[in-house]
Amino acid sequence: MPGVIDLRSDTVTRPSEEMRRVMAAAEVGDDLLGDDPTVDALEEASAEATGKAAGLFVPSGTMGNLVALLTHCGRGDEAIAGSESHILNNEGMGAPALGGISTRAVPNDERGGIDPAALRDLIRAPWPTTKLVCIENTHNRCGGSVITASATHAIAEVAHAAGAQVHIDGARIFNAAVALETDARTLLADGDSVQFCFSKGLGAPIGSMLTGSTEFIDRARMMRRMVGGSMRQAGIVASAALWALQHNLERLADDHANARRLAEGLGALPHIVMDPAGVGSNMVFFTVEGVDGADFRARLAAEGVLCTGTSPQRVRMVCHLDVSRADIDAAVERVRAVLAAMPASTPAKS
Ligand SMILES: Cc1ncc(COP(=O)(O)O)c(C=O)c1O
Repeated sequence: MPGVIDLRSDTVTRPSEEMRRVMAAAEVGDDLLGDDPTVDALEEASAEATGKAAGLFVPSGTMGNLVALLTHCGRGDEAIAGSESHILNNEGMGAPALGGISTRAVPNDERGGIDPAALRDLIRAPWPTTKLVCIENTHNRCGGSVITASATHAIAEVAHAAGAQVHIDGARIFNAAVALETDARTLLADGDSVQFCFSKGLGAPIGSMLTGSTEFIDRARMMRRMVGGSMRQAGIVASAALWALQHNLERLADDHANARRLAEGLGALPHIVMDPAGVGSNMVFFTVEGVDGADFRARLAAEGVLCTGTSPQRVRMVCHLDVSRADIDAAVERVRAVLAAMPASTPAKS
């Protein structure tokens, strides 16, 4: 079989040789006891990169979001997030299950946006009291689309005016910053707290960061302890995250260029319906028509191209640092060959 091109997610990257060397040499302590210097350095660099006062290293993005919700909201309080958000759709409903927090959806538009007026209508008090509004940037289920600083500001203005805080799920915030040719601090200026991931486009094996005010992070540290997220010689993994933060930001533009190239190649094929102009960052979503979606993905996997089915006919492919431009061209060719060999279930697109 030809080499595998893994487009399932940007989480599949393997640590590079250099990253592994850095990990092996990392200075460590006991982070729960507060003396792991590498974790301290990572938290400081992350706070700086996101324009916040303090940071808290957590094992995953899901835990970063959960700890944020637990810190902002008490039992019986409400958090509002987008209808297509990762928080509401892909995180096991941790906030209601573990924190007694009511979670409520405000509609996301196709590009992950939220209408400030619709949000205003949903915010309520006192039973329950809306304590938090969550914004996702880039927006995963809405095509990896980017949310601008002004769109974030408009949403945050409504939240803050109503006494609610704003949490930004910026799992891929540096993708958004690179795509918008701005810096993360600008995109995050209106967020009271921020979660971002090292284990996605930045290419580290493990870890996410929660940032916010010093007072917020002090309380979040207790919540991380409660959900079992405090780690010991965490400098081993923090060193990889720090290396990623220092070396892998600008190259995200390569992933975006690859995603556009992939979209243009795929969009020209029969049976594939998509708008290449809709690619906002490193993700490509498309619909297969006239052939069975599950069969398509299985045949493609047999040819060494791995992708994700987000619904029976909808497919997601994600570009990352372990996928080269040559891999993109090879992937398009393999998709072409697979489609050509497939039995039609209904007529192909015209
Ligand atoms: C937007 C968004 N938020 C949060 C997460 C959760 O990250 P993790 O898989 O590290 O828990 C993801 C993961 O894909 C994500 O896409």
